[in-house]
Amino acid sequence: MPQIFHPSMNTISRATIFGAVFILAVLIWLMMTIVRSPYVSGVGVIRSQPVPFSHEHHVAEAGIDCRYCHTSVEQSSFAGIPPTQTCMNCHSQLWTESPMLEPVRASYQKDKPLVWNRVHDLPDFAYFYHNIHVERGVACTTCHGQLAEMPLTWKTSTLYMEWCLECHRDPEKRIGPLAAVFASAGVPSPIISFEPHADWKNARCALLTNCSVCHH
Ligand code: HEC
Ligand code: HEC
Ligand code: HEC
Ligand code: HEC
Ligand code: HEC
Repeated sequence: MPQIFHPSMNTISRATIFGAVFILAVLIWLMMTIVRSPYVSGVGVIRSQPVPFSHEHHVAEAGIDCRYCHTSVEQSSFAGIPPTQTCMNCHSQLWTESPMLEPVRASYQKDKPLVWNRVHDLPDFAYFYHNIHVERGVACTTCHGQLAEMPLTWKTSTLYMEWCLECHRDPEKRIGPLAAVFASAGVPSPIISFEPHADWKNARCALLTNCSVCHH
């Protein structure tokens, strides 16, 4: 009986099937890469701001404490963004002619707040509290990176749920001494594990991965 398909068709069809699977795999990989890319997560991306504010200048060079500007970080969920008055405490005397500071002076004179673009912004259905983390000894730099080396501000963590959970499953390793929470550079090394009371470890840690802790 004559063959309908030439034997070489076997190879071709096999190649086509493998080809399709391969292309599908590449597509899935590409989509996952895009979803986790800086373009989507915002990691390392610099937002445009009304004034090019530098943490490097103010924290590393001028030696100003985080709490001078982010005043509510120890008391509330929100760290706080400084009002123009805070800038003017110094800049009514320092760099008064700087063109870079023109928007700050204008904001002060017209009594119109500067509008800073958010670098970190969780969706509304996820709750985060600064005070709880700060009280427990999680350093600013653990979540926000080396601010003291940033001429402009960017995000160093995705803030994805899996990022929160990675620490919540086993937070002891990431907790340092309270005195190091506001250190502007470096995470204390080695991180000094605090000695959790048995009840904290058993009750609190089990709770920390509960959906209702962050979604309530
Ligand atoms: C002199 C005031 C000042 C000091 C001191 C300061 N910051 Fe800021 N910080 C700002 C201003 C203004 C912004 C908003 C502009 C920006 O994002 O760069 C900001 C933004 C931030 C953001 C991003 C906020 C967002 O939109 O998500 C983080 C995180 C932050 N600061 C952490 C720190 C930490 C940690 C320290 C101490 C190591 C610190 N800051 C010290 C003024 C200050
Ligand atoms: C405690 C004093 C202090 C406060 C408060 C302060 N600054 Fe400054 N700022 C400085 C000093 C000191 C410098 C110079 C730093 C350097 O060049 O090393 C500076 C430099 C600057 C510069 C660079 C100016 C230039 O022409 O190079 C900008 C922009 C600036 N600050 C913006 C701000 C803003 C915005 C705020 C409020 C969120 C603020 N500063 C709050 C002390 C302060
Ligand atoms: C456990 C991780 C973590 C630690 C520790 C932490 N932050 Fe944050 N920070 C976040 C998250 C998450 C957001 C975004 C919150 C949101 O969008 O609701 C944020 C937002 C901010 C903002 C923007 C304003 C706001 O409150 O939303 C500033 C400013 C800030 N952090 C400063 C600090 C400073 C200063 C410290 C140290 C005292 C610190 N953070 C410690 C995770 C952390
Ligand atoms: C580096 C470690 C670390 C990271 C990252 C972290 N957390 Fe936490 N978080 C803790 C620790 C430790 C506690 C427990 C504080 C305590 O029990 O005293 C805590 C407590 C909390 C609580 C309070 C729980 C309660 O019932 O009182 C909430 C809400 C929370 N975290 C939300 C978040 C969210 C949302 C994120 C991510 C955006 C996040 N955390 C990232 C370490 C972390
Ligand atoms: C430690 C805090 C934390 C806990 C615990 C937590 N989540 Fe989340 N979740 C977040 C944060 C932050 C986001 C927003 C960032 C993101 O989409 O990854 C989020 C996002 C989500 C989303 C939206 C996903 C998306 O891709 O938009 C769902 C659904 C969700 N969580 C369900 C849950 C469920 C179910 C649990 C319990 C098994 C849980 N979460 C526990 C912090 C938490």
